[in-house]
Amino acid sequence: MSDPAARTIIEPFKIKQVEPLAILTRKEREQVVREAGYNLFLIPAQAVTFDFLTDSGTTAMSAAQWGAMMQADESYAGSRSFLRFEKAVRVLTGYPHVIPTHQGRAAERLLFSQIVRPGQAVPSNNHFDTTRANLEALGAEAVDLVIPEGRDPASRHPFKGNIDLARLDAFCAENRSRIPLGMVTITNNSGGGQPVSLENLRGISEIYRRHRIPFVLDACRFAENSHFVKLREPGQSGRSTRSIAEETFALADGCMMSAKKDGLANIGGLIALRKSDWLQDLRNQLILTEGFPTYGGLAARDLEAIAVGLTEVLDESYLDYRLATSRYMAEGLNAIGIPTVQPPGGHAVYIDAKAFLPHIPPERLPGQALVVELFLNDGVRACEIGSAMFGRTVAGTFLPAPMELVRLAFPRRCYTQSHFDYVIEGAAEIVRRKEEMRGLRIVYEPPFLRHFTARFDFT
Ligand code: F0G
Repeated sequence: MSDPAARTIIEPFKIKQVEPLAILTRKEREQVVREAGYNLFLIPAQAVTFDFLTDSGTTAMSAAQWGAMMQADESYAGSRSFLRFEKAVRVLTGYPHVIPTHQGRAAERLLFSQIVRPGQAVPSNNHFDTTRANLEALGAEAVDLVIPEGRDPASRHPFKGNIDLARLDAFCAENRSRIPLGMVTITNNSGGGQPVSLENLRGISEIYRRHRIPFVLDACRFAENSHFVKLREPGQSGRSTRSIAEETFALADGCMMSAKKDGLANIGGLIALRKSDWLQDLRNQLILTEGFPTYGGLAARDLEAIAVGLTEVLDESYLDYRLATSRYMAEGLNAIGIPTVQPPGGHAVYIDAKAFLPHIPPERLPGQALVVELFLNDGVRACEIGSAMFGRTVAGTFLPAPMELVRLAFPRRCYTQSHFDYVIEGAAEIVRRKEEMRGLRIVYEPPFLRHFTARFDFT
């Protein structure tokens, strides 16, 4: 028999339903992107061939999910679909109390608004943007304590999402009275989709417990994180990914989850908790802003899709394929001379545009220039995470972002290896004429979150 390790990791599904790819000419794309002020958030999705803007809510659902959706019970209260959803979350997490929300940030707002007060602080590895924004909106501080390797794009540390345990312990000791909860994000999205090791999770759990701080996971990519543990952590390869996920949840007191990632659903989120202390307040608030506690702002068919998705996502052949996709893209780009943050994350690859386009200075937005070129060349939609998003001009002086990155985030079960080969071939064309690429500047920006609506030009 041939060595299975040497074989291609295939898409472990066959395609039952298809949607044509929109393939425009370069000329047509030029017109679309010019009209959108060179902002890819402002173009119609039907002009995009490969949409790598986000892995959130973009999954292709399975026949089993669609089948379950057809059987959904849309009763306002106590629907059968809620009971299925609740059971799936309970079985996975071991937490008895389950609250549905319409997406991840609704869970964040709901939980934080009940337990976080102005002046308080919430530690994590890195808070995701919406988590940070929801804490800061309440006058609290979002404290990032990722290990130093997690801030170094070239480091190949296998668990760059880990928390620096010594700093966490010291932070908790100093600030105990103003920490209403402690968190960790698995995988660490803001750090590049990097995993957190089980050893680190055990350490985090021990520290929060010793300081009597409730420990809540931001668990939206729990399956990818657990599979990284299986593949990379010494002593874990013999376990099932499910048992690693179960241990992960067992180490915490609860979780918040956007179901738009490893829930394999297009919408949805949840809070699940071990204890009932916060439950009544959360449910009361839920009724006020999201919906009755047995639907939380979702249709019952969404609850069905999530209930099935939470089980399907732990299929290990799916997770092998899933983690292989970003590795395949990163290795393909690296081989043609496009540097990426190492190692590739679970859901995304981050191109280092500063290193790739050294002739474009940060004030001319090399990341945005690459985003535009990727679109013009092959209809790829990526997202700039650099000075277009985070740069500032203070008193006439331009302050660049620390890194000029371009994120390619991969929808689950949507694109095949030949799609990726095609994108890499197109990227090789860009490499050959990269010296001709020019930078952009911002010609319009709104007062906040400028990357969503800013307009750019090459002038
Ligand atoms: N936490 C993490 C780690 C996330 O990545 C996201 C969303 C959220 C919370 C919020 O969940 O979108 O359902 O409200 N991340 C998406 C992304 C938007 O593209 O990375 P949501």
